[in-house]
Amino acid sequence: MRSFLLEVSLLLLFLLKTTNGDVLFSSLPRSFFVVASPIEGQVLKAGEDNITVSFGLNQTVTNQTDESYKKVKVKLCYAPISQVDRKWRKTNDNLKKDKTCQFTIYDKPYERNVEGFKWDIEKDIPTATYFVRSYVYNDVDEEMAYGQTTNEKKSDSLFKIQGISGRHVSIDIASACFSVFALLSLVGFFIIEKRQSKVKS
Ligand SMILES: *[C@@H]1O[C@H](CO)[C@@H](O)[C@H](O)[C@H]1NC(C)=O
Ligand SMILES: *[C@@H]1O[C@H](CO)[C@@H](O)[C@H](O)[C@H]1NC(C)=O
Ligand SMILES: *[C@@H]1O[C@H](CO)[C@@H](O)[C@H](O)[C@H]1NC(C)=O
Repeated sequence: MRSFLLEVSLLLLFLLKTTNGDVLFSSLPRSFFVVASPIEGQVLKAGEDNITVSFGLNQTVTNQTDESYKKVKVKLCYAPISQVDRKWRKTNDNLKKDKTCQFTIYDKPYERNVEGFKWDIEKDIPTATYFVRSYVYNDVDEEMAYGQTTNEKKSDSLFKIQGISGRHVSIDIASACFSVFALLSLVGFFIIEKRQSKVKS
């Protein structure tokens, strides 16, 4: 019995140690709101369009103090529909392992309120359905609170971004065909050349 207790407490200690410093998304208050310019269902183009975001303290959370807030990040996040069968975009409650929000729109020291920050959608953003989330961090880079443009289930106010590769796919196919054709002609030319030199010798 005693050794069992010892084992359990050792295990608990181990668990405490390994989870120490890892912030769980489910533990964060939704007290730092963010709004973004795309409307529900809008389709934006990577490398062309822009998104403006505004964020700040959620005033409906009245007992909040922001003394410990040191940094703000706003991120572009995959909606559940764009995570299906894609392990590399999977949501994990442990924010160190979470892959929902992979693109940073804003990353600066804390300000209580920022309005209309404009972000040009970068060229490498892949085609997918997205929402926007904000995080505030303390001085050791731990998430303290969040806000997002969608509901808890991440099912409303979603928008789409069309990636560059998706738009230029026909050109890609054409150039791939052209390369294959070029390669084949080169090989053909080489064979003919070889034959001719054999005949000559
Ligand atoms: C503000 O906080 C409340 C309570 O947590 C939450 O229900 C609400 O959605 C938040 N508002 C915004 C705009 O995020
Ligand atoms: C931002 O994008 C909108 C359309 O999405 C466009 O009308 C506007 O001109 C863009 N602004 C800048 C500064 O690029
Ligand atoms: C603020 O109030 C909520 C309930 O209204 C409570 O859960 C939370 O712990 C409070 N936060 C602080 C910092 O007192």
